[in-house]
Amino acid sequence: MTETSQKRVFIRTYGCQMNVYDSERMAESLNKAGYTTASSADEADLVVLNTCHIREKAAEKVYSEVGRMRMLREQSGRDVKIAVTGCVAQAEGAEIQRRAPAVDLVVGPQSYHRLPELVDRVERGERSIVDTDFPTESKFDHLPEERSAATGASAFLTVQEGCDKFCSFCVVPYTRGAEESRPVASVLAEAERLAGQGVREITLLGQNVNAYHGEAPNGGSGTWNLAGLLRALGDIDGLERLRFTTSHPKDMDEDLYQAFADNPKLMPYLHLPVQSGSDPILKAMNRSHTAAEYLAIIERLRSIRPDMAISGDFIVGFPGESDQDFADTLKIITQVNYAQAYSFKYSPRPGTPAANVEFHVPEEVKSKRLEAVQHLLNEQQLAFNLGCVGRTLSILLERSGKEDGQLIGRSPYMQSVHVMAPQHRLGQMVDVEILSAGANSLKGRIIMAQQAA
Ligand code: SAH
Ligand code: SF4
Ligand code: F3S
Repeated sequence: MTETSQKRVFIRTYGCQMNVYDSERMAESLNKAGYTTASSADEADLVVLNTCHIREKAAEKVYSEVGRMRMLREQSGRDVKIAVTGCVAQAEGAEIQRRAPAVDLVVGPQSYHRLPELVDRVERGERSIVDTDFPTESKFDHLPEERSAATGASAFLTVQEGCDKFCSFCVVPYTRGAEESRPVASVLAEAERLAGQGVREITLLGQNVNAYHGEAPNGGSGTWNLAGLLRALGDIDGLERLRFTTSHPKDMDEDLYQAFADNPKLMPYLHLPVQSGSDPILKAMNRSHTAAEYLAIIERLRSIRPDMAISGDFIVGFPGESDQDFADTLKIITQVNYAQAYSFKYSPRPGTPAANVEFHVPEEVKSKRLEAVQHLLNEQQLAFNLGCVGRTLSILLERSGKEDGQLIGRSPYMQSVHVMAPQHRLGQMVDVEILSAGANSLKGRIIMAQQAA
């Protein structure tokens, strides 16, 4: 490459939606620093692997990917720089470069605003840079304000980061640090910019988003909770739908229940992980709530919004989980009746309390339990989807489908809905009559276009 030619960056994202958001913001700040976005690693001068540490498999993937990038560098003869960001960067720091010396740069999630400067140092020949500080300044104050024009009809917006809950299995409190909320004014300003770019739906992100307590705007005193923030977001012209994820049962407050009744833009869908249905296991997980308390929350939500769709996360095979404990997990799933859920085998994570426990559940038992949980959850998801057939749902059309003339959007309950519609309908809200349903998506036909707000 000559000095004057434009450099290109490729970012690969692993893990949760917060990483997706962070990758978008990193791309924007690198674009500002003169990098264009490459569509694959083959074309890039800088490859960023934005990593996840939540389970062993996710974390190990990084090393095979670095190996592939190193091969690419050798075969192409180009000087491709490799950066590792995200939660593996934070958890393993300099250890990454010991295991994978091909890595030029390691940057933790709280230092992304320094990325252009760090990349510049790498360009100038510095090697082995590691930045995993938790700086006093917030990255949100320093990342570029403009979002790229490529933003579609639905966007993520991180409002809260970090976690103080310390569930005994989880790395997030160590990789993302203490709970911190962005000021209300900064969130509203970003949401207004997004709405101005045609965004119709915003999903507020946080590891514990319902613990949000952001500094009040306009010199007001104290902090606002999530319901207050959602109310103000509801007043932004052009925004039609609001969502938030992920919530913790302990942080459900009265205002938030009421928001599902009073805020017409808040969608009737809540991702509320419970992890297990057994009280002794919940205690060992340090979840700070019982199964009954969780069920009471669900009942309350449904008394306020009878059509509320509930989603969850489950861990099977947590150390010490007996057959009875596991039966209690199946029981709570039956009691809640989920619209959608994720389930995982317990994966011991270095540095977390649960990893040091003596009795680990054998791998075959974990596999059997995971299969049973997923079977039940899939049945519930299919039943929920079939229950929508014949109804008319409001759909936000977000992207093109595989078939010619097909567009895909989301229902209020987060289901993917396929319709035949002309391309210019992308980004619009339409009323769709649901004609059929499978486990993973619905099909329908547009009965009318809704008025644009
Ligand atoms: N803050 C969220 C999400 C955390 S990570 C919450 O409190 O729920 C997303 C999910 O990954 C968790 O809900 C949990 O189900 C799963 N998970 C986290 N650590 C895990 C581990 N060590 N093994 C298996 N699954 C894990
Ligand atoms: Fe992890 Fe628990 Fe915090 Fe969720 S609440 S991020 S599972 S420690
Ligand atoms: Fe993974 Fe970090 Fe998200 S560990 S799930 S990328 S917060």
